[in-house]
Amino acid sequence: MDKTVQKRFFSPTFGNKPRYLLGRDEVISRLCEGLQTPPGSRERARLIIGQRGYGKTVALLELAEQARKAGYVVASPTIVSPALLDSVMEKLQKDSERFLKTGKKSVSGGSIGAFGFSAGLQFDRQDTESKTFAFRIDRFCEEMNRRRKSVLILIDEVQGGSEELKQLIIAYQELVGEGRDVAIVMAGLPAALSVVLNDKVLTFLNRAEKIMLEPLRIAEVEAFFRRAFREESIAVPDHLLQKAAEKTEGSPYMMQLIGYYLTLNATSDAKITDKVFKKAIAGAEKDFQNDICLTVLRSLSDRDVRFLREMSSMDEPALVADIAKGMGVSREYAQQYRRRLLDAGLIETVKRGEVRFAVPYLADYLRNTDAV
Ligand SMILES: Nc1ncnc2c1ncn2[C@@H]1O[C@H](COP(=O)(O)OP(=O)(O)OP(=O)(O)O)[C@@H](O)[C@H]1O
Ligand SMILES: [Mg+2]
Repeated sequence: MDKTVQKRFFSPTFGNKPRYLLGRDEVISRLCEGLQTPPGSRERARLIIGQRGYGKTVALLELAEQARKAGYVVASPTIVSPALLDSVMEKLQKDSERFLKTGKKSVSGGSIGAFGFSAGLQFDRQDTESKTFAFRIDRFCEEMNRRRKSVLILIDEVQGGSEELKQLIIAYQELVGEGRDVAIVMAGLPAALSVVLNDKVLTFLNRAEKIMLEPLRIAEVEAFFRRAFREESIAVPDHLLQKAAEKTEGSPYMMQLIGYYLTLNATSDAKITDKVFKKAIAGAEKDFQNDICLTVLRSLSDRDVRFLREMSSMDEPALVADIAKGMGVSREYAQQYRRRLLDAGLIETVKRGEVRFAVPYLADYLRNTDAV
């Protein structure tokens, strides 16, 4: 099988922009429309929330590309870490070079007139060391806005308890207060965001608009599989196309994995047989369980895992009362776990007192393994 085929249609790697972005047109347009609203408006501060492998990083990358085309200076997605602030500043400065290179020569000679800059839009060393992030980014935005450029900050893997994230949010609020033409879009897991939103310093984020990344529609996945395999001249019977789409359970990452393994295992005369299908699904499930299920479970407390394990032994939807009984705890006690797991986006309420799994293959994984 030609390697480029796999690369072209299916490439199951995290943070990798797929060649075809499925089912996210509406989200991307909403984000882009937000950037067109006047400075200071609510739509300029947004939070993308989605499960692992649902395309948060990809959505940020796509937005970065579109925003650049629309004349924004963009700090491409920066993961929350102790180096967050310097990293954001560096990325903004680097992106601004696009305009300096194509623009008039005179701007790169230190003649731009903004206090704090030496050559181009780099801060001189003294300022980098002595001035706060808030000061530096305000000067940067002021200078960019003067050149009629807006500024967009993209933050990935938002998590609670980050001092740097707090500082960034505070600086952003000050920028808005100064009337700067700036916007911020962040992304994170439902669990991480529920922690962030409970932090008083970050109440600002409560007002930011939240955009949920939903599972992909199965019909859309099936149509994509049909097209991808037809273009690559791989013959897949209709019933297997449909089954493959259903097996993704709407997870974009699972879609990439299944597509990849089907392509990889196709027979030498480019056919997908029942045998090939089975092998491909097994490969995809194994990767998904390692990359997603195991990672999810490792981030939970033992008690939370026990709740989920108990739940996985029951038919869906499971009754919280039965789970409590199975765990040997009171119903009130079990409710605390239910709440946390709901916040984390791992389970969903079906109706009062009933829950089901919200992460594909998690129940299977818990039933079949004792590890974690
Ligand atoms: N809408 C989509 N259409 C096609 N492929 C997608 C889509 N969204 C994501 N993918 C693919 O799924 C995989 C996971 O995407 P991504 O890394 O953006 O997920 P994520 O939500 O950031 O995950 P994590 O929470 O682990 O950081 C990548 O291989 C990506 O190319
Ligand atoms: Mg990501």
